[in-house]
Amino acid sequence: MTEKHKHFGLGTAAGVVGLIVLAGIIGLITVYSGGYNVAATEDHSAFGRWAAATTLKNSIQSRAPTDDPPSFTEAMVEAGAGEYKAMCQHCHGGPGIDRAGWAEGMLPEPPHLTEAAAHWEPNEIYWILDHGIKSSGMPAFGPSHDEEALWNLTAFVTDLPGMTQTDYEAMGSSGHHDDGHEH
Ligand code: HEC
Repeated sequence: MTEKHKHFGLGTAAGVVGLIVLAGIIGLITVYSGGYNVAATEDHSAFGRWAAATTLKNSIQSRAPTDDPPSFTEAMVEAGAGEYKAMCQHCHGGPGIDRAGWAEGMLPEPPHLTEAAAHWEPNEIYWILDHGIKSSGMPAFGPSHDEEALWNLTAFVTDLPGMTQTDYEAMGSSGHHDDGHEH
C-alpha cells in the first residue's frame, strides 16, 4: 500500500466515524429539545408515512408464523364476529358501519378493515392480533386471549373484505362476547 492510499483509508475511516457521531448528536438533540411534535393532530411527513408503512409491512412479514393456518369454519367466523363487534368495531368500523367518532382522532387512524384486511395473509393478521402494533394504539390481544380466540378473530377478519352490511349485522349476535377479563 502506498503512503497516498494509507492516508485515503484513514481519511475515510475518520469521515465515517465523524458521520456516526454527528447522527448520534442529531438524535440526542431531537430527543432532548422537544422539537419533534408528538401531537396526533399533526401527520407525519410524506417520508415519515412511507417509512412507517414500509417498516410495518416488513416487520410483520418477517415475524408472522410460517406454518399453514388452520382451515377456517363458519363457526370460527361466527365466534370471531362476536369478539370483533365487542373489541374492534369502535376503532376499525365494519361493513357499512363507521368507526366511533373518537377513533377519527387517532394517528395513525385505524384503517377500515373491510379494505385493509385484503392486504394481509391470515398468518400476518394472526400475528398483528397476537402482538399488536407499537406506538399506534393497536392493542396486543395475545396477553388476554388464547390461540383459539385469536384464530376465530383471524377467520372473521379474513372474511371482512366483500362482506355485506346485512351479513355483518346478522353475525355474532348470539355469540359469546369476550371482554378479555375472564383469564
Ligand atoms: C384502540 C383502537 C384499536 C382497537 C380496539 C383495535 N385496533 Fe386494530 N389497529 C388500530 C390502529 C391505530 C391500527 C393502525 C396501526 C398502524 O398502521 O401502524 C390498527 C391496525 C390493525 C390491523 C392492520 C391493518 C393495516 O392494514 O394496517 C389489523 C388487521 C387490526 N388492526 C385488527 C384489529 C382487530 C381484529 C381488533 C380487535 C380484536 C383491533 N384491531 C382492535 C387500532 C385499534
